[in-house]
Order: sequence, then C-alpha cells, then structure tokens
Amino acid sequence: MSGHGTPIPMTSHPCGPLSGVAEVPGDKSISHRALILGAMAVGETRITGLLEGEDVLDTAKAMRAFGAEVTRHADGSWSVHGVGVGGFAEPEQVIDCGNSGTGVRLIMGAMATSPISATFTGDASLNKRPMARVTDPLALFGAQAVGREGGRLPMTIVGAADPVPVRYEVPVPSAQVKSAVLLAGLNAPGQTVVIEKEATRDHSERMLAGFGAEVTVEDTDEGRVITLTGRPELKPQVIAVPRDPSSAAFPVCAALITPGSDVLVPGIGLNPTRAGLFTTLREMGADLTYENERTEGGEPVADLRARYSPDMKGITVPPERAASMIDEYPVLSVVAANAQGVTMMGGVKELRVKESDRIDAMARGLRANGVTVEEGDDWWAVHGLGIGKVPGGGTCESFLDHRIAMSFMVMGMGAQAPVSVNDGSPIATSFPIFEPLMGGLGAKLERA
Ligand code: S3P
Repeated sequence: MSGHGTPIPMTSHPCGPLSGVAEVPGDKSISHRALILGAMAVGETRITGLLEGEDVLDTAKAMRAFGAEVTRHADGSWSVHGVGVGGFAEPEQVIDCGNSGTGVRLIMGAMATSPISATFTGDASLNKRPMARVTDPLALFGAQAVGREGGRLPMTIVGAADPVPVRYEVPVPSAQVKSAVLLAGLNAPGQTVVIEKEATRDHSERMLAGFGAEVTVEDTDEGRVITLTGRPELKPQVIAVPRDPSSAAFPVCAALITPGSDVLVPGIGLNPTRAGLFTTLREMGADLTYENERTEGGEPVADLRARYSPDMKGITVPPERAASMIDEYPVLSVVAANAQGVTMMGGVKELRVKESDRIDAMARGLRANGVTVEEGDDWWAVHGLGIGKVPGGGTCESFLDHRIAMSFMVMGMGAQAPVSVNDGSPIATSFPIFEPLMGGLGAKLERA
C-alpha cells in the first residue's frame, strides 16, 4: 500500500535519446476484474500477465478474505479458485484497498448483494475519495452503507440478504460505478439494467460475457443500455491480461518529447474506450504509429512506435473523448507544455476526484517548472512553450498519485533542468517496474 511507507523523493534529469523496447505491465482495470470475477466463478481461473502492482495485490488479498483461494505460481501466472456468485464468506478483518478506487468500488459492488458485512479502508488518498457514487446505487439493491462524513472510507457495507435487481442511470461518467452495479446485479434475481450516457471502459461487460453471464449492450437514444441477468453460474476462464495503455502512455509521451528518441511499446490494448490519448497525440502531430495491428482475446492490440516529435501543436481535445483517456490527461499536459500553442482540455470534472485532484496537482507542478496553466472547475488549458523549452528545475508534489509522479518524471526528460517529485512511492501501485524500464530506455531517474 502506498502512502503508508517512507516517501521516496525522485528526480528526472534531462536525457539523450530514449530507445528500445518498453514492455509495460498488464492492464490494471482488467487485472482487478480478472481476480474479482475469478473469485465469483465456480472452479479455477488462470491468469497470465496480471499486473503485480500494489493496487491489484490489495484486491488479491481482499478476494482471499472473502473466501477465494488466490495463488501466484512460480512462473508468474496466477490462479483463483472461486466460491461462486453469492458464495462470498464474511471477512474477519477490515479490507484495506490501499490506494485503489477501482479495487474498493468494485469489491463493494461484488459483496453488496450477499448477506455479509465488510468494512473497507484505504490510504490517505483513498479515504478522501467519494464513495456515495457507489453506495447510492447499492442501496437500491437493499445494501446499507455506514461511513464517514461525506460518504468517505472507512466504511462498512451491510450486504442485502434479499436483494432486488435495479435499473440505474449512472449520473457521472464512471466505469467503476457501472461495474459496481453490474457486479452487485450478479447476485440479484432477474435483470439489472445500467444506463450510461457516455461510453466508459467496457471491460466489465466484455469479461462478464466471457465468464458466461448473460449480458447485452444496446446503443439507444438514452445512452448505452447494459442488461445483466442475475444469478448466473460463472465459468472459470483462462485470461491473458493485455498490457496497459495507461502505462504505455508514459514511455510513449517520454519518447515524443526527448530528442532523438525511437521507442517501441509492444502489445498494447487499443480498445476504443481506452485509446483516446493516442488519437489526441496523433492530432497534435506526434510521430506515433500503430504496427502489427491484430486482435488478441477479442481486443484490438498493436505495437506502438513513438519517435521524437519536435513539431507538435496544441489542440482542443474534444470533451466527448474524455472518458476514453481520463487517466492520461496528466501526461498529456506534459506533452502539451512541449507543443506550440494552447492545449484546451474540457469536460474533465472527474479529474478532480481521482487519486488526487489531478488538475490542481498538475497545474501546481507545471507552474513550478515554468509552464502557464489556466483552470476552471471542469477544464484546464496548458500554454505550450515548444519542444525543449520547458525550463524545469522545480519540485512537484505527487499527492499520493502514481500518475502525477510519473508525469513529472517524464517532464524532466525533455526539460532544460531536472524535475523532482517529493514522493515517487505511489508509482508502485500501477507501474512497479517504471524506474528500471525507463532507465533501460535511457532515462536518468534518481532517488534522493
Ligand atoms: C477505472 C475507471 C476509471 C479510471 C480508473 C480505472 C476502472 O475511474 O480512472 O483508473 O478500472 O473501472 P472512474 O470509473 O472513476 O472514471
């Protein structure tokens, strides 16, 4: 769990070309879901490519606490012996989800329709984040939640003994909320319907169908309507987790702004609900190509090739693209600082309730390094200085947020002077091999 240990101050020095192959770890969203759905299936699910970051390891621990057998094998693969839908045991201890909003929200959903109680907590970042967005719909199933003021963790969920299915229109564009409702719907009799106005990442729908649940998705005038038939017997699966596009974003963006770079990031999932950053970078004029495009496990996959791109221009990022790149705005803002002109990012209110307030965190760090940023409640604009013109030399606070820490490390690579963060320890939540991987490409990262 991040934020519980000693802070790790880190500095990124301007560096020469980045080159080579960047094999980034498995997808965080899919890894959480593989463990949770595996725990709700009957029999053994085998998983390769699981992200072994702190967030996912906390979810593995939680699934054990609910009665599933979760094992890491010597070859790095994992197996989950599930207890079946409705088969969760009541945990004996508090469930600590560390830094992970996805972990806690999905697990709350998964247990909310079983006649058990569980108490959830997390680190200082997670315990500040809003949970009512999940507990409101879970109450419709008959679950009760008692937490701190403002619906914050620590929080106890008393699962519904006699759950009823629900029809729920998700009020914020959030795959976590959608997924919590679908997972709760698994143990409710009849059909649970979730409606989302804007499409968010659809891994839960795809994986539920893969595990044998009856799930349909329709695009209607109301939005995307997802219908799940409750009480299925989920069948164990063999899952190969694709590499995470949100982690790929860091070596890709680093290559674009570091002189002479040419980096290949193989095997990246390009599910359209996740790939918005790469479209945006190409619109800005990035030399980013998709090689060896293919389909793996039903998902579009390609090798990304990113080369130094000295002529990128600021653009207005279409707000309707926000959900498909929501975790990538911090590192996009670093590229924007290296582009010519203003990059305007609107429709991004959700950035304010991530592991940190990501608009505030990035704006502070960018300004500390000589970049002008304007911001409003749901938008921000970065005034690009042009390639290699970011002064750097500043120290940024990471606010217990892995993506903030990594974004500023990327900024240092193409800046005029080193860029530091007060605490790089949260990087281990999603990208535990970030330092050796970036170092292997030629980055100069240093722990103080
Ligand atoms: C995730 C959904 C997104 C994203 C998070 C992972 C998921 O959060 O930011 O990193 O796996 O469902 P929201 O659902 O809050 O948008």
